[in-house]
Amino acid sequence: MSDQFDVVVIGGGPGGYVAAIRCAQLGLKTACVEQWINKQGKPALGGTCLNVGCIPSKALLESSERYEEIAHYNGPHGISVEGLHINVPQMIARKDEIVQQLTGGIAQLFQANNITWLQGSGQLLPNNQVKVTGHDAGSQTVSAKNVIIATGSTSIELPIAKWLDTRIVDSTGALDWETIPKRLGVIGAGVIGLEMGSVWRRLGAEVVVLEAMDEFLSAADRDVAKAAALQFKKQGLDIRLGSKLGNVTVGDNGLTLTYSDSQGQKTLEVDRLIVAVGRKANTQGLIGEGLNLQLDERGRVIVDDHCKTNLPNVYAIGDCVRGPMLAHKASEEGVCVAESIVGQKPHLDFNCVPWIIYTHPEIAWVGKTEQELKAAGVTYRSGSFSFAANGRAKAMDQAAGLVKVLADAKTDRVLGMHIVGPMASELIGQGVIAMEMEASSEDLARMVFGHPTLSESVHEAVLAVDGRALHAVNRKR
Ligand code: FAD
Ligand code: NAI
Repeated sequence: MSDQFDVVVIGGGPGGYVAAIRCAQLGLKTACVEQWINKQGKPALGGTCLNVGCIPSKALLESSERYEEIAHYNGPHGISVEGLHINVPQMIARKDEIVQQLTGGIAQLFQANNITWLQGSGQLLPNNQVKVTGHDAGSQTVSAKNVIIATGSTSIELPIAKWLDTRIVDSTGALDWETIPKRLGVIGAGVIGLEMGSVWRRLGAEVVVLEAMDEFLSAADRDVAKAAALQFKKQGLDIRLGSKLGNVTVGDNGLTLTYSDSQGQKTLEVDRLIVAVGRKANTQGLIGEGLNLQLDERGRVIVDDHCKTNLPNVYAIGDCVRGPMLAHKASEEGVCVAESIVGQKPHLDFNCVPWIIYTHPEIAWVGKTEQELKAAGVTYRSGSFSFAANGRAKAMDQAAGLVKVLADAKTDRVLGMHIVGPMASELIGQGVIAMEMEASSEDLARMVFGHPTLSESVHEAVLAVDGRALHAVNRKR
């Protein structure tokens, strides 16, 4: 007889492991199937996010930012350093250590919560049976009252730029380089292109980013995207919009890329290439014979607003379903599914899921952009405040960027907050709280913000919605 669980989660990334922990907290007998083998050749939990995504990329962004700050930005503070050097292998080893600590922490949480970790790859069979093929190729079948699919995503490979040792890589490869490329090409000016391009540019690579679209960061508010593009240009990140990749030739002295833009055919010589053109759902091999689990045209599991699939008691969450591919979105879906399994009525508002890009300056937003409100015919008021007039940002020597708030013209409810600037990743939490609490811009305007803080820029932006910012000249209304 196969082992019987209340819940079997397939995938132990931030969607799956959080779902498993919440299920266990709620008293459900829970197992999680995870197939990941880490750099050290050991089974690991944490998925893309902890192993090769959010955490390692932020570790390298931090190291490279510190290096660049010392190399280029400490002059105005009166600090100068001679003989600056970066030990790249040590930087990578530090990143690996953080990854090992955090993924090990998830294994401890599993133990503490009595969650069974089934090591190997899971396949969903009829009647909520899950076949687990272990790393030694042996297999077992477990059965579950409920199954949560949380198999995540992997990088899309371009047929014209297939992965090639350390020369043509995805984000995972670019997290492990132990030397700095002299000339680096990046395909795709999306989140990964900007973050990983920034890491290696800060360390000294000449970086050219080829982006197919004519518009930069089309999902972001235009004012924010424009301000960010200006800063990236100043830093020397060469982003070429409207560039369609033709082919990539591998030579002895590097890679030759041909691409076309509005001016015609061009070539680019680089030493290494990061291809970051999006990610695809991991659903290959997941569905056993005789099972009619519905997928969409992009291979994602089709789910409703409660993450229910077309099969009874089978749910799917995170990167393998619709919606943004973000760790916090995956985790919150995991919590919601666990709570709904025990009959609770959880709620997740996708409109309040923040987006954060950890470049310098950081870019963050929540809710609607101005272009989305215009397209939807919503009447709104807008208020912006520049970090150039914020005392704390000035003191930090990080006064580039702005906070922009959009509020409904009739109800004054906050509809969106958009930030480019220092610690935007942390500041955006204020927008999330405001939107979740259905606050008006006036609610925020009447609150007291500490001085001198970056948060005062949020305060000034909401005051500006009503034309009464105190440290800026207000637009006439
Ligand atoms: P995953 O994290 O992909 O986990 C899925 C897990 O399922 C994997 O461990 C996989 O091994 C396992 N699995 C798959 N199939 C099977 C199977 N059949 N059997 C058993 N196990 C299986 N998001 C953010 O919010 N913030 C960031 O800063 C951020 N930075 C990122 C940086 C990079 C370089 C990348 C690549 C991504 C980043 N993301 C970030 C996105 C984030 O990593 C994903 O949105 C998140 O990991 C999705 O979680 P998930 O649990 O759905 O999937
Ligand atoms: P992305 O969707 O963010 O960006 C891909 C970019 O590549 C787009 O701008 C697209 O127009 C462009 N593109 C596609 N095909 C192209 C081609 N042939 N030539 C040139 N450009 C092309 O995808 P990305 O950067 O790969 O990241 C995947 C996902 O991972 C993100 O959508 C995000 O959800 C997640 N992520 C989140 C992070 C964060 O939250 N800070 C950090 C990194 C990744």
